[in-house]
Amino acid sequence: MTPLLAMAWRLHELGRSFTWHISARSRSRVPFSKELDALPFRDSIVLHIDDEQNGKLLEASDILRSASDDCDVYVCGPRGYMAFIEEAARRAGVTKERLHQEHFGAEIDTTGSPFTVVAARSGLSIEVGCTETILSALQREGIEVETACQNGVCGTCLTKVIEGRPDHRDMVLTDVEKASNEMIAVCCSRSRSRILKLDV
Ligand code: FES
Repeated sequence: MTPLLAMAWRLHELGRSFTWHISARSRSRVPFSKELDALPFRDSIVLHIDDEQNGKLLEASDILRSASDDCDVYVCGPRGYMAFIEEAARRAGVTKERLHQEHFGAEIDTTGSPFTVVAARSGLSIEVGCTETILSALQREGIEVETACQNGVCGTCLTKVIEGRPDHRDMVLTDVEKASNEMIAVCCSRSRSRILKLDV
């Protein structure tokens, strides 16, 4: 939100037209939500709140398709969201030159050898591929984990480890917490053991 807020102010001061689409899982998770309503360019902001859409996904490619050809697209958000918008932009015919991306924090290497996650609550065994994250593998099987940054910096996705040795890649847990192997950030970390049993 922060870089886009600064850009929105600048465009407003220059009298340039823009639309700012903000996506969040729920209204309470929209940053600066109170301040947004007081902005002089509030009419240029469109909120997309997941839990108010009855499970309907954001139609990002339709939105991007409706933008004029001389319009540039700026996107900032968690890794999964950025990938979603990038794919939507590709489908909408937005050229690479018109798409500008601002990534959260440092890029973490989430790739590695495949392993199996056992979801203790359902008993499901789920393969995590070389380029997949635990989070995406769980979501593929319909298991939801609360997330925010999806980039190892916020700690929202920390999940209890029941068995196995995590390969910690996050920047949230301290060295002592990592050594204890009690929790794992499923958005970016992997496993050193062939099987990792999690409390999900
Ligand atoms: S969602 Fe932020 S650390 Fe995983």
